[in-house]
Amino acid sequence: MSMMKMACPSSSLVLGFVALFMFSVTPLMANALSSNYYDQTCPKAESVITGVVKKAMLNDKTVPAALLRMHFHDCFIRGCDGSVLLKSSGGNKAEKDGPPNISLHAFYVIDEAKKQVEKACSGVVSCADILALAARDAVALSGGPHWDVPKGRKDGRISKATDTRQLPSPTFNITQLRQNFAQRGLSMEDLVALSGGHSLGFSHCSSIQNRIHNFNKSNDVDPSLKASFAASLRKVCPVHNKVRNAGATMDSSSATFDNAYYKLLLQGKSLFSSDQALITTPKTKALVSKYANSQQEFYDAFAKSMIKMSSIAGNGQEIRSDCRFVN
Ligand code: HEM
Ligand SMILES: *[C@@H]1O[C@H](CO)[C@@H](O)[C@H](O)[C@H]1NC(C)=O
Ligand SMILES: *[C@@H]1O[C@H](CO)[C@@H](O)[C@H](O)[C@H]1NC(C)=O
Ligand SMILES: *[C@@H]1O[C@H](CO)[C@@H](O)[C@H](O)[C@H]1NC(C)=O
Repeated sequence: MSMMKMACPSSSLVLGFVALFMFSVTPLMANALSSNYYDQTCPKAESVITGVVKKAMLNDKTVPAALLRMHFHDCFIRGCDGSVLLKSSGGNKAEKDGPPNISLHAFYVIDEAKKQVEKACSGVVSCADILALAARDAVALSGGPHWDVPKGRKDGRISKATDTRQLPSPTFNITQLRQNFAQRGLSMEDLVALSGGHSLGFSHCSSIQNRIHNFNKSNDVDPSLKASFAASLRKVCPVHNKVRNAGATMDSSSATFDNAYYKLLLQGKSLFSSDQALITTPKTKALVSKYANSQQEFYDAFAKSMIKMSSIAGNGQEIRSDCRFVN
């Protein structure tokens, strides 16, 4: 506002610039996030959420990976606004029912966290914040780094299955990946660090298929895959795979958040073309090597990039009372 006063009102050009400036920064200011956002209004929110995630993990080891991926999908579509949590309703097919939903699960954990948080302080904490905190807890409780999550996201009212086309595909090359991340203000460094999320979890055969059958005209199998590793993948994922939910774990220690993903990547044992793509340019390969050699450097970079990813602004306006439905 003080900038408005300083601008010379006699020049319409200057006014135009000021208006443009105001328009472009207003949504960011409206969504300004902060670490102490709930200190006065819901000081228990974080510990309540951590308790729920901890308990859920005891019963189901796939919960941490699910929460981390859910938060990534949320942020990459319409910003981090809880849109991934909404159910399809009426004629509208929601994000979670879009094509790459195959491994999205554990929505019940967010529901439980919301229920407990509402008991502590009703109508205060957004579902988008709960998801961001749960994803952080999922990583930390799996042995990974812990970071301070900026909070104050608002929940959005729009969720469309067709928007999931905007997510990066596992067949993307480095150019496509960098472009997809850049569209969200994320750098090449963020791309390499955040791909380390693939230290946790599981992939279905459908996401690997392009590399192990009919790769291209001259190779049935992607030659960048180590032959013995490709052979084992082909065994669990035959051409006509009939086993529902067949697939492979993301790395050798898929319930522990560590840097094994980068070590395996350098050995030709990555699952997706998009993982392999990270070692196709000298700059990205240097980062992969750095993280393969130092778990601490990976942790530091991952935490920093997660804060960036989880700050992608959405257009949320409300604090949903049920994470699956708009108010
Ligand atoms: C760089 C672009 C990315 C692509 C192309 C990609 C692609 C995929 C694919 C295809 C799957 C397997 C889905 C399935 O078959 O079940 C997957 C799983 C997963 N992704 Fe990514 N991903 C990317 C980035 C990220 C990021 C940034 C994170 C988080 C920081 C992440 C976290 C995960 C996790 C944790 C899983 C395992 C989910 C589970 O086991 O439930 N991914 N990803
Ligand atoms: C995933 O999306 C497909 C295609 O829209 C849909 O048929 C399927 O029911 C969804 N699966 C889950 C688990 O929601
Ligand atoms: C990546 O894929 C796009 C689209 O298929 C293609 O135009 C481009 O040449 C590819 N880039 C690299 C580096 O392979
Ligand atoms: C198949 O892929 C390999 C490795 O990426 C490449 O060297 C080769 O030129 C490709 N062949 C065709 C026909 O595209």
